[in-house]
Amino acid sequence: MATSISDRIKKFRRNLNLTRTIKLIWSIAPGRTVWAVLFIVIESVLWFGTLYTLKLLIDSVALKGTQGDDFLSNTLKLIFLAGIVSALYNCVKSYSTYLSEYLGAKISQAVDDRIHSHTIKLDLSYYESPEYLDILKRAREAGNIHPFAVVVSLFDLIRNLLMMLAVGSVLITIDWMLMPLLAVFVLPILLVRIKFSDRLYEWQRRQTPLERKSSYLSNLLTGDSSAKEIRAFSLGKYLLDQYTRIRQTLIKDQMKLNKRRTFIEMATMVMVTSAFYAITAYIIFGAMKGSTSVGDIAVFLVIFPQTFTIMQALASAISKLYQGNIYVANIFELFDLQPKLFTPKSTDPIPAEKNLDVEIRNIHFKYPHADAPALSDVSIRLPAGKIVALVGLNGAGKSTFIKLLCRLYDPVQGSITLGGTDIRKFNIDEYRRQISTVFQDFVRYNVTARDCIKYGDIENPLREDEMREAAINSGANEFIERFPNGYDTMMGRVFDEGHEVSIGQWQKLAIARSFYSPSRLIIFDEATSALDAKSESELFQSFRKRIGSRSALVISHRLSTVKHADYIYVMGDKTVVESGTHEELVSIENGVYARLFQTHLEKQIAVESD
Ligand SMILES: Nc1ncnc2c1ncn2[C@@H]1O[C@H](COP(=O)(O)OP(=O)(O)O)[C@@H](O)[C@H]1O
Ligand SMILES: [Mg+2]
Repeated sequence: MATSISDRIKKFRRNLNLTRTIKLIWSIAPGRTVWAVLFIVIESVLWFGTLYTLKLLIDSVALKGTQGDDFLSNTLKLIFLAGIVSALYNCVKSYSTYLSEYLGAKISQAVDDRIHSHTIKLDLSYYESPEYLDILKRAREAGNIHPFAVVVSLFDLIRNLLMMLAVGSVLITIDWMLMPLLAVFVLPILLVRIKFSDRLYEWQRRQTPLERKSSYLSNLLTGDSSAKEIRAFSLGKYLLDQYTRIRQTLIKDQMKLNKRRTFIEMATMVMVTSAFYAITAYIIFGAMKGSTSVGDIAVFLVIFPQTFTIMQALASAISKLYQGNIYVANIFELFDLQPKLFTPKSTDPIPAEKNLDVEIRNIHFKYPHADAPALSDVSIRLPAGKIVALVGLNGAGKSTFIKLLCRLYDPVQGSITLGGTDIRKFNIDEYRRQISTVFQDFVRYNVTARDCIKYGDIENPLREDEMREAAINSGANEFIERFPNGYDTMMGRVFDEGHEVSIGQWQKLAIARSFYSPSRLIIFDEATSALDAKSESELFQSFRKRIGSRSALVISHRLSTVKHADYIYVMGDKTVVESGTHEELVSIENGVYARLFQTHLEKQIAVESD
């Protein structure tokens, strides 16, 4: 029991440790924070001023008999003063609320920015982990509301502390026991709220995977990319049932928790309020027996309920702060994650000469959460200015190999060098700019056609001529120029006036993007899979001319494409099993390459002999 209490206290202190949160708030808006606190102080002083002038007024009325003719003018003066102080107080209060809200919104926005900028720094491997996706979801949700809530409740706490100090100084003159007694009675409210904040938080944390599943289903049901299949396969009702069931479970559990909290809070409130009236009765009867003036009793009656309200507000501010702070910890959990790819303190510059070979030697790789390796002892050479093809069955490891080449992952063993230098010695962004890849699952950016291509080189100002040349080289110019707005046409259907194009046309845009990039190596990962035969053969027949002096690595399942390569690597299961020129590979009897393209080759031979 003793340890459990000390554990609870430890947890309470940890959750209420605001150092990091305050540092964060301070780092975002130091000037505005000072202003907001200053206004809270002024507000509290004025609030006390309103109470004090009220006390003076009561005193003046109580002492009416001793004031004679001055009574009327004194009272009028006091009423005037009370009016002014109260008006001022209300103005300052409104302004100080506005300041806290402004600061809160500013901080939420800055935190949201930091969440996004931190996320893009993290490497791809994090996206393999459901645990990371949970952390990201919690941080993003917390980023929207909780920094704001922490700021507001922090200021509420300061405000109510100052107010309590003010009323405390008056109450202590009536009976010194009043404040400690009130504090003791309000404490249970605070404890109940904190206990339930903890429970709610722990419950929500446990529910994150289920919440993610429900968002996933919701996206499937309402998203534009799944709209077609959901209807074509009539999956809507089936998925909706699953979604509804998850939502119901989530809401039912939360309501159970809320119901318990409400009953316990109600019981606590009854207890606390009874105690409050017991004290009131005790003081009034005690005072009436003694010689306390009606004025003192009146002051007590005004101030005591105020103190009670302030204490409740204080308890509420502390519990909200506590709760907000636990959620803000979710953001720090994300900020604590660091990129895992190795980066040296000082990097080597990438050599300026164009003709650098890329050499992949004996690399091994396993995905962080996978049991088996995806690549085993792979060695491939990409000579400067040459076109190399990579072929192999689905799941052989081709796309994985490309991710390593782009340095989205580092190999577990082996090395990749550019011009003889290990790529891990280069600045990662600078290295990545040497390569332009059309990924198998490339992104369809819903921006203008021009921007779709410009994204290939976002570092430099747009070079309109080169952009158009890239479009011509990929064949994208043919459909773009048919749009009334040409290169200014919005692609996709997400935004107004967007034009949806076919997958093959999207692929041409992605190819144009890779051409536009000032890279030294172009990678196509099944980048022409959706192109019509005519477009594809045109592209590859003059591929050399289209890519300029760059090297290229092309993954394709089509013999007609692969044939154009200067050199070909064949991947079996996780490793290279054959390599050579097309002629060399077809001549290997029963070779993997020869078998892979058997039907193609037979047709080809048939055509050639016709
Ligand atoms: N993100 C991933 N996490 C774990 N395993 C993966 C991931 N991506 C691919 N794999 C596994 O790696 C193997 C190679 O996949 P991939 O490189 O995509 O093959 P290919 O491009 O040759 O069809 C497959 O067995 C696949 O299951
Ligand atoms: Mg692939």
